[in-house]
Amino acid sequence: MKPKIDLNIAGLYLKNPVLPASGTFGYGIEYEEMVPLDQLSAIITKGLTLKPREGNSPPRIVETACGVLNSVGLENIGIERFIKEKLPRIREHNIPVIVNIGGETAIEYEELAGILDKEEVEALEVNISCPNLQKGGAAFGNDPEIAGSVIERVRKRFSRTVFAKIPPADNINPVALACQNEGADAISLINTIRSLAIDIETQKPILGGIFGGLSGPAIKPVALRMVWEVSNILDIPVIGIGGIFTGSDAIEFILSGAVAVQVGTANLVDPLSCLKITEGIKEYMARKGIQNITQLVGKAKLSEK
Ligand SMILES: Cc1cc2nc3c(=O)[nH]c(=O)nc-3n(C[C@H](O)[C@H](O)[C@H](O)COP(=O)(O)O)c2cc1C
Repeated sequence: MKPKIDLNIAGLYLKNPVLPASGTFGYGIEYEEMVPLDQLSAIITKGLTLKPREGNSPPRIVETACGVLNSVGLENIGIERFIKEKLPRIREHNIPVIVNIGGETAIEYEELAGILDKEEVEALEVNISCPNLQKGGAAFGNDPEIAGSVIERVRKRFSRTVFAKIPPADNINPVALACQNEGADAISLINTIRSLAIDIETQKPILGGIFGGLSGPAIKPVALRMVWEVSNILDIPVIGIGGIFTGSDAIEFILSGAVAVQVGTANLVDPLSCLKITEGIKEYMARKGIQNITQLVGKAKLSEK
């Protein structure tokens, strides 16, 4: 029997539980020659803002021993051009579109949600790791009250599925709870971990933006722990992200409590990663005689409770 791996998150139907993570798969259509996009469960766009952004000065990406540091700085074409130029092209592939949004103020998120509610967009992923310029640049998602207020504003204006993507802060549990209480349908975690690389010859930071976000295999154990803890306290689903390169990595996240996963840095190495990881999940399920992926969600925790 074919294992059942599809799922539904607050009305958003996903034919498999593996999504490309924001910022690592462009607007999707850049890969249409290389990847059969209709086999993906959805596209999550790179982060979009109200106005176009040029992003941080180069260099923007540096490899580390076990991952990647990036300081792209949310470079994007702005919501207006996205709707005109990219959205109709993505729609040709007949898969759900999840738009990742970012902002410098809470009002910017609200406006984006209002604009996108009128478009053919199945879901929003609200990236609350962005710096809040009205509060000295600390990420919205570091403070439960501020995180909740952003989600509340988005929820008021967007009528379909809303994911809250939260940063890996120490107080991740209260932040996740605040997002749930204000109407998020799912929590995506984790975003990158703020980090630094130094060039000892120039004796300066390597990245133009000084600090960057660490992603890839190095962050997987941190992300797994956070998925475990956050899924313990929430009623809404958790989507696990962080260093997933193989079907086995994805299974670890699902056993820790994630209902679905996102794949980021692995796309930079192999754009077919999501499809290969989906196959890996199916092979594991066949090998273990598991018929429905829901049987695996949080299973590693059963002895704990
Ligand atoms: C180059 C790059 C750009 C990214 N841009 C975004 C973005 O625009 N919005 C966002 O929410 N996350 C962004 N992320 C974070 C990823 O979506 C993901 O949360 C993170 O990389 C951890 O997953 P991974 O270890 O599989 O890469 C970016 C990551 C990378 C490497």
